[in-house]
Amino acid sequence: MRSFPGHKSTGQSNTLISNDDRAGRSNDLMWNDLNEHAQRIEGRHILDLFEDSSRAEAFSLSAEGMLFDYSKTQIDADVLDALVAMAEDSGVAARRHAMFSGKKINETEGRAVLHVALRDPDGGSVEVDGADVIPEVRETLSRMEMLAEEIRGSKITDVVNIGIGGSDLGPAMATRALSPYHDGPRCHFVSNVDGADIADTLALCDPATTMFIVASKTFTTIETMTNARTAHAWLTRAGVTPDARFVALSSNKEKAAEWGIPEERVLGFADWVGGRYSVWGPIGLSLMIAIGPKNFRDFLSGARSMDVHFRDAPLDRNMPVLLALVGIWHNQVLGYATRAVLPYDNRLGRLPAYLQQLEMESNGKSVSMDGEALKVPSGPIVWGEPGTNGQHAFYQLIHQGTQVVPCEFMVAAQGHEADLGHHHELLVANCLAQSEALMRGRDLEEARSKVSGQFEGAELERQARHRVFPGNRPSTTLVYPMLDPATLGRIVALYEHRVFVEGSVLGINSYDQWGVELGKELATALGPIVAGDQSADGKDGSTAQLVAYVQKNCG
Ligand code: F6P
Repeated sequence: MRSFPGHKSTGQSNTLISNDDRAGRSNDLMWNDLNEHAQRIEGRHILDLFEDSSRAEAFSLSAEGMLFDYSKTQIDADVLDALVAMAEDSGVAARRHAMFSGKKINETEGRAVLHVALRDPDGGSVEVDGADVIPEVRETLSRMEMLAEEIRGSKITDVVNIGIGGSDLGPAMATRALSPYHDGPRCHFVSNVDGADIADTLALCDPATTMFIVASKTFTTIETMTNARTAHAWLTRAGVTPDARFVALSSNKEKAAEWGIPEERVLGFADWVGGRYSVWGPIGLSLMIAIGPKNFRDFLSGARSMDVHFRDAPLDRNMPVLLALVGIWHNQVLGYATRAVLPYDNRLGRLPAYLQQLEMESNGKSVSMDGEALKVPSGPIVWGEPGTNGQHAFYQLIHQGTQVVPCEFMVAAQGHEADLGHHHELLVANCLAQSEALMRGRDLEEARSKVSGQFEGAELERQARHRVFPGNRPSTTLVYPMLDPATLGRIVALYEHRVFVEGSVLGINSYDQWGVELGKELATALGPIVAGDQSADGKDGSTAQLVAYVQKNCG
């Protein structure tokens, strides 16, 4: 459990939210209040909370066809009230309004945050700097559709998206998630500057029928530009004129033009689309090519439905808000350092990686909006793998390790493989069994009875102890009808808004990422040193030693 001596009201740092919009300046008291609840519930067993037969329903929320069940946590009515009060006091509602109406809530970069506009091409006007952005959203979407249809109707068999971070994870995650809807060319994703990535991908492709999408908001990212040059050379070597085989997706149209990509093959997007929020616009082109414009529109509409829910539902009946508050309870209040995302949906295999960027690049900060040090942890380490695979790997620690890992399960009511007998029932049963086991646990007495026929005396006692599960471990479960394009859109938008709420409560700017810069600068400086063109003098002993080893052993 955490204590918050002198916790600062992080909400005060949000200069876009007027004092009038703030429900009160009692933020310190609210953290202390939550802290007291944490002490109050110590030693209580989650299972006991189900003596109240209305608990499951009371601590669940149905919205947009999905069910979010957070009843297998220690949250009770008083904790929930305190968490919702915290969200109210932090100005979540005012900040949400500011985001939807195009205010520049990304204050360190002076940018609006309007990925929500990308999924509302037929919506009313949203102004940034006095200009309505919706006509541009509509026009870009229709250019994407024309280009996607042109590529889908051509001889192209393989499309390679070259991008990294948000210019890779979104389309890669969603393209895999929606594989039952693929009816276009095969889509591949190359991100790593490690030549192994592009080499292994090109080995699967024929230069005569392969198209490359260079996806980079800035069009300067070293990994992407290096891979794009390698792809260019690969086509040239095969005697294929590269120009007609490249599409650029970027906010930096000048750089794309410098690269020689014809204007009609450059799809631009505004600076109010953050990289990790960009799958809904041009960066989603590879996904659109794979599943077709109609399915892509369904993906957008699903996300839009979650936007409307998030925008309009009261905070205590609002799925992204509740998901965020459960996370805040576990991380900032109870001090659980990590969060496992466990989709029982193999096609969501890239979702944990996607959510790592979404959550950790957005909220992994040390200072609040006004530059003051945060007094509470900024957010958990997010990790995970699809079930049931994780069960046979790391669930041991989740069940019996000394650290509590709040788990977020997700599963579809229906799979796409109805013809494969009872696979899906087994999948669902495993998902539900894991959350039940985490909560229920197994005490020593039960463990003894499990081994009583096999061992006796002290050995029985020793063996039994190894079979004890502490239980009382929290989890949430999100259930949705089926992983179709609209549902995927809803799930991703749900998580995006969760990150927004977490950031608002903590007073963090979730939309910059200064923490990635230092490593990039040092890598640029180290390039010529590793190549042997500059001396490692002035580098620390460890770095110099590692460079020397590489140079000696590079063959
Ligand atoms: O280095 C981090 C980052 O800037 C991410 O925020 C972004 O998604 C990724 O790099 C790729 O950037 P770009 O789309 O400009 O190539």
